[in-house]
Amino acid sequence: MLQRYRNFIRGVSVNWFGRLGVVLTTSSFISFLFLELLRLMGVLTNAYIGLITYLLFPALFAAGLVLIPIGWWKYRRQRQQTTRELLAQRFDETEVRPAAWGSRLVVTILGLSLVNILFMIGASMRMLEFMDQPVFCGTACHTVMNPEWTTYQVSPHARVRCVDCHVGEGVDALIDSKLNGMRQMFLAAFNAYNRPIPTPVHQLRPARETCEKCHWPEKFYGHRFLVNVRYALDEASTPHYTTLLLKIDTGQTAAGAGIHWHVGAHNVVRYASVNDQREQMIWVEARQPDGTFRRYENRRLDASPADAANVRVMDCVDCHNRATHIYERPEAAVDERIRRGLIDRSLPFVKREVLAAITNDYPDPDAAMTGIARHLEGFYQRNYPQTSFRQLDLIHQAVAAAQDIHRRNIHHHMRIDWNAYPGFIGHQRPSGGCFRCHNPDLQDAEGRFVSDDCVLCHSIVAFGDEQPFQYLAEPAEDDPRRPMHEYLRQEFLHFSRR
Ligand code: HEC
Ligand code: HEC
Ligand code: HEC
Ligand code: HEC
Ligand code: HEC
Repeated sequence: MLQRYRNFIRGVSVNWFGRLGVVLTTSSFISFLFLELLRLMGVLTNAYIGLITYLLFPALFAAGLVLIPIGWWKYRRQRQQTTRELLAQRFDETEVRPAAWGSRLVVTILGLSLVNILFMIGASMRMLEFMDQPVFCGTACHTVMNPEWTTYQVSPHARVRCVDCHVGEGVDALIDSKLNGMRQMFLAAFNAYNRPIPTPVHQLRPARETCEKCHWPEKFYGHRFLVNVRYALDEASTPHYTTLLLKIDTGQTAAGAGIHWHVGAHNVVRYASVNDQREQMIWVEARQPDGTFRRYENRRLDASPADAANVRVMDCVDCHNRATHIYERPEAAVDERIRRGLIDRSLPFVKREVLAAITNDYPDPDAAMTGIARHLEGFYQRNYPQTSFRQLDLIHQAVAAAQDIHRRNIHHHMRIDWNAYPGFIGHQRPSGGCFRCHNPDLQDAEGRFVSDDCVLCHSIVAFGDEQPFQYLAEPAEDDPRRPMHEYLRQEFLHFSRR
């Protein structure tokens, strides 16, 4: 067997082309198998090596396969002899002797072709599978995708593959995404892409197809209890707690409608926005299964008849636009680190100073890292030399946390600064969140508007308290609820003792 292969190789290595072809096919085939083995054993996980394994080696292999016949063709022209004569010269007589099922040479060629075809199919299947891995999407064009990769890895969807949200199912979607991918590769190679990358409003799979694989609207019912803590900019960074009961119902239950009403079965909300930012609405309309239809127009906008390109049926990502690529707002980011104990509140003015350090303008990441450290260390050295001396560890910890916030949210090379990608949940600036539609400017013919009543979406249970809200705080002596509270406490003690 090996002998026959060797004879064949010697036979086709007729000139420079033939020899190069043989070297290319054989070496890329062996390298592919070797790297694939290492990958299967889990030794290799790097996206670049994946690119080499699944793109470069199969490409070299195919190039080698093309070179061999070219070499033979040139050789024949040079010798001015027929193929039959040349075959007789280059191969053993036993190889070319005609047999019932073709000569041994023909069998060898057929056999090798079969191996080639199987190899190419196998390699391309592995390549497609590999290209669906988040580590490929996130790191193959490292600088371009780094912001999305960074935010993805710490998101609630870190175990969901990028393609599950970004690429549809079926052959069309596959071809579409690969064509789009090639276009993007060119843009990346020629440095011609937008910074920051615009949100793929028109390319995204319908969210109702993707998100509803795992979350379905009928499942949303009742309230979601939400406790927010904000730290003041004073010396003690005093906490203030706000507690909300978010009404997240779809409205399919007796309890009444809530936030997921927009995506409840058969309710359709459509809107036209001024641009893909989806922050300024031209009109909004709601259609319900019982035939109710309402259309609200923006009075403040002298809009031309809506630009059809920007009409959307509202779905999950019109609110959850930051379900995965979550960029923090500077204040919320600092509050979150203090809450988790990564920044210690015993450092005087720590909230104010960390906030100042991270929102400074820095020309590049290195400048940001040293700038943040210098700002915080300098502040405590100048104003609190005692603290600076005794609590040096805490200061270093705060510096590390502040640098981490900056690394996660600011990406200079993609021009991603604070608020480059604002979220739509809630009603903070700059996007306006729910108030993009829930505001008095959007009115129907009778002058009704999409409600902005504070209790439409949530009950505000506590606002700005210095203590976290407690469900069963002990009522005062003269509180009429006292007997009930006492009764519940006895019940609880009774059951917990059993
Ligand atoms: C759970 C679904 C989900 C997953 C998983 C996901 N994305 Fe996204 N991605 C989105 C949504 C939704 C948007 C659009 C946000 C909007 O509508 O404003 C988006 C936007 C983007 C954008 C445009 C920039 C932006 O932030 O708007 C890029 C680039 C991107 N995703 C890349 C990736 C990569 C790379 C991965 C995997 C590492 C990934 N995505 C995983 C849902 C997802
Ligand atoms: C493959 C399954 C899957 C898909 C697809 C998916 N999610 Fe999720 N999602 C999850 C899981 C699992 C969690 C819970 C993670 C946790 O609790 O840590 C989650 C959590 C969430 C949360 C709650 C986050 C929080 O902080 O509590 C939201 C909101 C959400 N997903 C929205 C979406 C949207 C919008 C889409 C479509 C763009 C989507 N999901 C697609 C599995 C999925
Ligand atoms: C009108 C805006 C809006 C739309 C549309 C919307 N959501 Fe939500 N969703 C919210 C808000 C607001 C919350 C509560 C946010 C919070 O917890 O901070 C929420 C909460 C969630 C949660 C967490 C629920 C829990 O029990 O903690 C998931 C999961 C979720 N949404 C998925 C979806 C999916 C999937 C869709 C599309 C079918 C969708 N949402 C459509 C606004 C929306
Ligand atoms: C694209 C426009 C749009 C956005 C954005 C939007 N809504 Fe709505 N919402 C509507 C419309 C339209 C109605 C129905 C108003 C009507 O005719 O009664 C509605 C109704 C509601 C209702 C009442 C449902 C009922 O019938 O009882 C709640 C609650 C609600 N929205 C919450 C939210 C929250 C929370 C957000 C932000 C996370 C949000 N909405 C964002 C358009 C929007
Ligand atoms: C259309 C729905 C809607 C309306 C109307 C609305 N809110 Fe909210 N609000 C939300 C949502 C959704 C959140 C939760 C955001 C989050 O998950 O962080 C929120 C959060 C809040 C918070 C906590 C945010 C924080 O940063 O501490 C406060 C306070 C609040 N709302 C007050 C109000 C007041 C006051 C009004 C009336 C003027 C009002 N809201 C009207 C949807 C609404």
